[in-house]
Amino acid sequence: MRRIALAQPHLAGNERAYVLDCIDSNWISSIGKYVTEFEQRFASFCGVPHAIATNNGTTALHLALVALGLQAGDEVLVPDLTYIATANAVQYCGATPVFVDIDEHTLNIDPALVEAQITPRTKGIIAVHLYGHPADMMALQLIARRHGLWLVEDAAEAHGAEIGGRRVGSLGDCATFSFFGNKIITTGEGGMVTTTDAALAARLRLLRGQGMDPDRRYWFPVVGFNYRITNIQAALGVAQMETVDASLDARDRLAAWYLEDLAPLEGLVLTKGTQPCMRRVHWMFNVFLADGGEERRARVMEALDQRGIETRPMFYPMHLMPPYATPDRFPVTTSWAARGITLPTHQGVTRDDVHYICQQLQAVLGGS
Ligand SMILES: Cc1ncc(COP(=O)(O)O)c(C=O)c1O
Repeated sequence: MRRIALAQPHLAGNERAYVLDCIDSNWISSIGKYVTEFEQRFASFCGVPHAIATNNGTTALHLALVALGLQAGDEVLVPDLTYIATANAVQYCGATPVFVDIDEHTLNIDPALVEAQITPRTKGIIAVHLYGHPADMMALQLIARRHGLWLVEDAAEAHGAEIGGRRVGSLGDCATFSFFGNKIITTGEGGMVTTTDAALAARLRLLRGQGMDPDRRYWFPVVGFNYRITNIQAALGVAQMETVDASLDARDRLAAWYLEDLAPLEGLVLTKGTQPCMRRVHWMFNVFLADGGEERRARVMEALDQRGIETRPMFYPMHLMPPYATPDRFPVTTSWAARGITLPTHQGVTRDDVHYICQQLQAVLGGS
């Protein structure tokens, strides 16, 4: 029986040629032409002047928070539904992530609930564009400005998403991206910070390279990190940027096939999504059981697995994770997170695969 993978990289362009070029030219470490080219291409893709590549999306987030001056004892507002790295990056700084419930149409931080969580210790907000859907940056910018907070976009899952014709990556004080193997574009492992602020960009570069003074080699005025990307990873990134528009289109097409086939199915709901000014991208396509919780979801996923269809559960709420456990209630996150199933989303999924996945889903839902 054929298995349909949940996610897989699409390496159909110049990836092999550029990686071989690194090996043939002996430039395999973190200096090399592909690092510069990847940063320049990614900056221009996001419509910003500065992009600083890192070795993964988590270090990109950590670097951004350190560069913004986050310190022990500070607080940062973070959506309750996200991947753990968003909260962990805050914790690495000795600061506290304070969770905010989500909006059920977009699964992103609910701006209407943000102000109630602001205290004198709050320094900033991290807006996550979850699963490729842009967060409501306009509303969040107004709140951030009113309270003197910074606003970071965690755009790990949303390369190419837009609000009002502007790409994510250009909508906050800075933004971070991941290029892990399952992302819309990948470098195996990799990350990026983007910003319009030249001073912040210089600080990010300084901190990324162990804090070494750019004008005085082996002089370290600050405690920095080794969060550099390699030329080999960046070579993959350049090749991926050459085909990113086609990748985004292919994912849009896949989502449209899912929507077409899922429309007649009973027992499932989808998020309503986007304001008209937003372009969501399809990092992962999710469906939600109309009834039941985690146990029923596990049965549905197990049955799909037996039929050769790989799925995964939606992220768990942050407030349930042992390091961040809090008695506070987050009803929207709790309800949606327990019912969400991610279906195969990558460029290798064919129209016939989608027919098969949705037929099997219908059969499984009828019997579960
Ligand atoms: C929302 C979010 N933030 C941060 C990260 C961290 O990126 P990485 O896995 O590249 O460290 C991810 C990665 O999956 C993510 O989904």
